[in-house]
Amino acid sequence: MPHSATILCAALAAYGTLASPLASRWGQNCTVKPLGPGQDDAPQILKAMGDCNNGGTVVLGTAGDVFNISQRMTWNLQEVGIEWNGILKPNPAPSLWLNKSNTYQTEIQSQATSLIISGHNIHIDAHQTGGVDGSGQVFWSYYFNPANNITKNDGDGRPIAFTIQHASNVVVKDFHIWEPILWSSLIDASYNVTLDGMVINATNTDPLGAGKNWTPNTDGFNTFRSDTISFKNWKVICGDDCGAIKGNSTNIYIKDFACFGGNGFAFGSLGQYQDQEDIVENVYIENLAVSRIDSRVQPNMGNGIYMKVCLPLILTPQDPDGPC
Ligand SMILES: *[C@@H]1O[C@H](CO)[C@@H](O)[C@H](O)[C@H]1NC(C)=O
Ligand SMILES: *[C@@H]1O[C@H](CO)[C@@H](O)[C@H](O)[C@H]1NC(C)=O
Ligand SMILES: *[C@@H]1O[C@H](CO)[C@@H](O)[C@H](O)[C@H]1NC(C)=O
Ligand SMILES: *[C@@H]1O[C@H](CO)[C@@H](O)[C@H](O)[C@H]1NC(C)=O
Ligand SMILES: *[C@@H]1O[C@H](CO)[C@@H](O)[C@H](O)[C@H]1NC(C)=O
Ligand SMILES: *[C@@H]1O[C@H](CO)[C@@H](O)[C@H](O)[C@H]1NC(C)=O
Ligand SMILES: *[C@@H]1O[C@H](CO)[C@@H](O)[C@H](O)[C@H]1NC(C)=O
Repeated sequence: MPHSATILCAALAAYGTLASPLASRWGQNCTVKPLGPGQDDAPQILKAMGDCNNGGTVVLGTAGDVFNISQRMTWNLQEVGIEWNGILKPNPAPSLWLNKSNTYQTEIQSQATSLIISGHNIHIDAHQTGGVDGSGQVFWSYYFNPANNITKNDGDGRPIAFTIQHASNVVVKDFHIWEPILWSSLIDASYNVTLDGMVINATNTDPLGAGKNWTPNTDGFNTFRSDTISFKNWKVICGDDCGAIKGNSTNIYIKDFACFGGNGFAFGSLGQYQDQEDIVENVYIENLAVSRIDSRVQPNMGNGIYMKVCLPLILTPQDPDGPC
């Protein structure tokens, strides 16, 4: 039986509903289509983000299109709509993405990311067809196949699929993330971000990993140093925290959120950095359902909602994940 919880952590000021429909407010369109087998689509996507910056709409293909991404990207956008109809799929080559010069290091736990969206007034609509396919299975199998004899560590270079960093007034709608390698999404150093209608699925299908947690660290979301962030209508199947509210997260609104498998829903890790205060304030959660799934698929759920507080002094290099 699934167990579910509804928690009211604090009274909440009124949160607005979504603003005007996407795209229609913007004039110019920049449309990109996948270039086809063997080609890297990142350069043409970066060009479109530049050409349609400051008031345009970027149209990422149509439903069913898959864009091959072979380099890290930062989109620094002002007043941009993105019709994200197609799927961005990082080239499934571990040696490419585990090379730290091909990703960015984030401000939290030295985790890597391959895509950063920053800027102001950004409206993304993926229409339930678009998103990011992290090709995570290749990585999960790569790390956990005993024949490869590799250990995984925080900050080892596995990239986050979708990062919103130094951004304000952002809306992301009806967006999918398939097979994230590490965290599905990170909201860092941002203000006023709404993610509405997210579907995330990090399910191992490698028979060697049956009954084991082969998808660790595939969190649904993490927040850090961010204020006024809303998560509505989420469905997350993962091998770690469906959501993790980390240090200096304030005015967080979560509504209609379904969490399957993984570790549950976390406040933390908190207290991770010595001499740095972590403030978590005014978190409102309504209708969060946390459910176990078949343990042959995802065996490790031991919590509903839980708190992770770190004691940095007892962390040792031999235990890099520690309680964090
Ligand atoms: C740009 O694309 C949007 C969404 O597909 C469409 O509604 C709009 O009419 C297009 N605008 C122009 C100027 O082509
Ligand atoms: C993706 O791009 C890389 C680099 O250009 C290329 O080697 C690879 O074959 C492409 N993958 C696909 C599926 O097209
Ligand atoms: C890592 O990537 C950089 C830049 O793409 C490249 O110059 C370097 O040779 C790569 N290192 C390894 C070990 O492959
Ligand atoms: C696995 O890797 C460790 C550390 O690199 C090494 O000491 C050990 O010999 C390896 N084991 C096998 C079976 O290759
Ligand atoms: C938050 O962002 C939304 C969507 O861009 C915008 O409509 C709203 O005015 C912003 N609210 C604040 C307080 O900036
Ligand atoms: C999640 O992914 C697994 C493996 O690909 C698939 O079997 C399952 O149907 C997916 N679940 C949803 C709800 O999409
Ligand atoms: C959180 O905010 C407080 C107060 O501004 C600051 O002192 C602290 O360093 C911040 N912590 C982190 C992890 O950014």
